[in-house]
Amino acid sequence: MLKPLLIFLFFFFSTAPQLSYSLQAPYVLRISCGARSDVHTRPTNTQWSKDFAYTGGVFANATQPSFITPPLNTLRHFPLSEGPENCYNIDKVPSGHYSVRIFFGLVAEPGFDNEPLFDVSVEGTLIYSLPSGWSNHDDERAFVEALVYLTNGTATLCFHSTGHGDPAILSIEILQVDDRAYNLGLNSGQGTILKTGKRLSCGAEQPRFDVDYSGDLWGGDRFWNSISTFGRHSDRVIFTKDSIKQASQAPNFYPETLYQTAIVSTDNQPDLAYTLDVEPTRNYSIWFHFAEIDPLIIQAGQRIFDIVINGDIALANVDIVNMTGDISRALVLNTTVAVDGRNLAITFHPQRGSHAIVSAIEIFEVITAESKTDIDEVRALQTLKTALGLPLRFGWNGDPCVPPQHPWSGADCKFDKNSSKWVIDGLVLDNQGLRGFLPNDMSRLQNIQSINLSGNSIHGAIPSSLGTVTSIEKLDLSYNFFNGSIPETLGQLTSLQTLNLNSNSLSGRVPSALGGRLLHRASFNFTDNSGLCGIPGLPTCGPHLSTGAVVGIGLGAFAAILLLITFLTCWWKRRQNILRAQRIATREAPYAKARTHFSRDVQLVRHHAHENTRTAVENGPSLLS
Ligand SMILES: *[C@@H]1O[C@H](CO)[C@@H](O)[C@H](O)[C@H]1NC(C)=O
Ligand SMILES: *[C@@H]1O[C@H](CO)[C@@H](O)[C@H](O)[C@H]1NC(C)=O
Ligand SMILES: *[C@@H]1O[C@H](CO)[C@@H](O)[C@H](O)[C@H]1NC(C)=O
Ligand SMILES: *[C@@H]1O[C@H](CO)[C@@H](O)[C@H](O)[C@H]1NC(C)=O
Ligand SMILES: *[C@@H]1O[C@H](CO)[C@@H](O)[C@H](O)[C@H]1NC(C)=O
Ligand SMILES: *[C@@H]1O[C@H](CO)[C@@H](O)[C@H](O)[C@H]1NC(C)=O
Ligand SMILES: *[C@@H]1O[C@H](CO)[C@@H](O)[C@H](O)[C@H]1NC(C)=O
Ligand SMILES: *[C@@H]1O[C@H](CO)[C@@H](O)[C@H](O)[C@H]1NC(C)=O
Ligand SMILES: *[C@@H]1O[C@H](CO)[C@@H](O)[C@H](O)[C@H]1NC(C)=O
Repeated sequence: MLKPLLIFLFFFFSTAPQLSYSLQAPYVLRISCGARSDVHTRPTNTQWSKDFAYTGGVFANATQPSFITPPLNTLRHFPLSEGPENCYNIDKVPSGHYSVRIFFGLVAEPGFDNEPLFDVSVEGTLIYSLPSGWSNHDDERAFVEALVYLTNGTATLCFHSTGHGDPAILSIEILQVDDRAYNLGLNSGQGTILKTGKRLSCGAEQPRFDVDYSGDLWGGDRFWNSISTFGRHSDRVIFTKDSIKQASQAPNFYPETLYQTAIVSTDNQPDLAYTLDVEPTRNYSIWFHFAEIDPLIIQAGQRIFDIVINGDIALANVDIVNMTGDISRALVLNTTVAVDGRNLAITFHPQRGSHAIVSAIEIFEVITAESKTDIDEVRALQTLKTALGLPLRFGWNGDPCVPPQHPWSGADCKFDKNSSKWVIDGLVLDNQGLRGFLPNDMSRLQNIQSINLSGNSIHGAIPSSLGTVTSIEKLDLSYNFFNGSIPETLGQLTSLQTLNLNSNSLSGRVPSALGGRLLHRASFNFTDNSGLCGIPGLPTCGPHLSTGAVVGIGLGAFAAILLLITFLTCWWKRRQNILRAQRIATREAPYAKARTHFSRDVQLVRHHAHENTRTAVENGPSLLS
């Protein structure tokens, strides 16, 4: 994250007609990418902040590709190993209307791709794809500039690799302009981005920035290329030193100097014609600047011309003096046209008088700002990124779904017309060597239909909150280290058709709602886990048995208890006998002795009796034995 320094600007324009307006300085942030300390550049002593706090990318020495590139010595480039999407998230930018400009650089080291080609987006909207050959031109190809509304306190600028070298950024400028600047009328507003295509100062000797013209700070320091002829030898440059009325006015604050030169046509060739190569099937907003500085024209009706764009009259009967009511007074006209082909041809065609005139032309591409991704879903993915320890090469930076040309790798997006937001439709992160765990927060992806995290090393539990994401149709968590039981809540996923939980360390009962679904064309795989049970094909679960088994176990247990009681009884009796014997032998010895004597006596007696009975035995059975 970049913590921009607050920049106070105390410029004072004694000549500015709107003094009170200009006293309040616009927000200005200029960043010298890769710089480790703040930089001032000549000749205007412009201040550039260091961007050392920014962590992504690599800083390097820079070469300036073109004459108009700011004289900065460092740049920041983004190797593909750090991911295809790289962003500057610039904090604390007050809500407002801004001119955002990015200059590209070339790494000053041998062996570097000497002209990287990549895409640039602002606030999720793609505004530029660098054309090959950009570094050989001293014109708008060396930078990208767009007028955008920044409303969330943050400016997000992203650079998207296209596989043609490392994106390399020399500087970033965020310059506040008037909220009403470049208002197109009906089609204008916060949903519209104007990307600068071309700015031509007709008759100027060299390219200039507003600052070179001492232009107002609220003008956004525009770059004006110079042009002295539209290609016809008859085109002629005229200029004046007279002051121009109505220049440098709110909301656009065009520099007065712009109107002090012009190109005019001559008798040989009354049309002025300018053609620009453009991207086809886009809308272009074109702004024309006039001031009657030709000493031959002194009143209305002397010069009237049409402005024809690609063969259609865009503005008819332009009479500068009539429309401004004066000579040397600025006139700004704008029109928006749809262009099908690759050419934007502008012709100034005289209707009265034989010459056309023009001071400056601005051409913008009108771009509709992209809707962003639902903020809840963005947060869910950010949590997931951390929880899974997503490698740098994924480059999950900026917005997940926009620009639609560069969604986050592994994220499938769809546009939800209902909310006018992008939402996550699928996550495909199989076999990516991911570790970590699945956060509960994942359930904020309330529109996701398909999740494939198969073949990673994700451990921990399956979040039970997934049961609230009723849109899930496919959930593949196979070949991971998920443990614990399958959350009962997964049974609530009524759209679930594919559920692969095989080859994990799951245990416990498969939710019965899932088991019941197997009959309905669903494809579930629970095999190869440490201890899942409860559906056909898996072992039966311990605590839940059939009636027969319960009866059998009951009887068995009963028998075992009987056996145990019998055994205990026997043991007790035997023990009693032993104890009695011991008692006789030890503890009660005197008594035992006495008894012995007694028994001896008895025996003696018996002996005698025996002798007596022996006779008796001989005579018949004895009663003593
Ligand atoms: C940049 O150039 C300076 C000399 O101008 C050199 O000392 C420095 O090491 C270079 N830095 C890098 C990152 O190449
Ligand atoms: C922008 O800020 C508004 C209000 O703070 C918020 O409702 C909205 O979600 C934010 N948008 C984005 C994309 O962050
Ligand atoms: C640009 O043109 C539109 C319509 O053609 C008009 O509403 C708007 O005021 C013009 N803007 C300026 C600054 O002249
Ligand atoms: C051009 O503008 C028209 C009318 O505003 C609009 O319908 C169309 O979608 C725009 N085309 C592009 C490519 O933005
Ligand atoms: C200025 O233009 C209006 C129509 O747009 C016309 O009625 C008027 O006559 C013109 N004035 C002059 C002096 O040509
Ligand atoms: C669209 O949103 C409304 C409420 O914002 C909701 O009631 C409706 O069900 C949604 N429609 C769709 C198709 O999601
Ligand atoms: C998930 O990805 C694997 C390839 O790694 C593939 O075999 C499997 O079919 C995918 N799962 C689903 C549900 O598409
Ligand atoms: C799952 O594994 C983690 C370690 O990865 C362990 O802390 C946790 O106790 C295990 N949970 C269960 C239910 O076995
Ligand atoms: C289920 O997963 C196992 C591996 O864990 C695999 O061998 C088997 O083919 C899978 N069954 C089906 C129907 O895909």
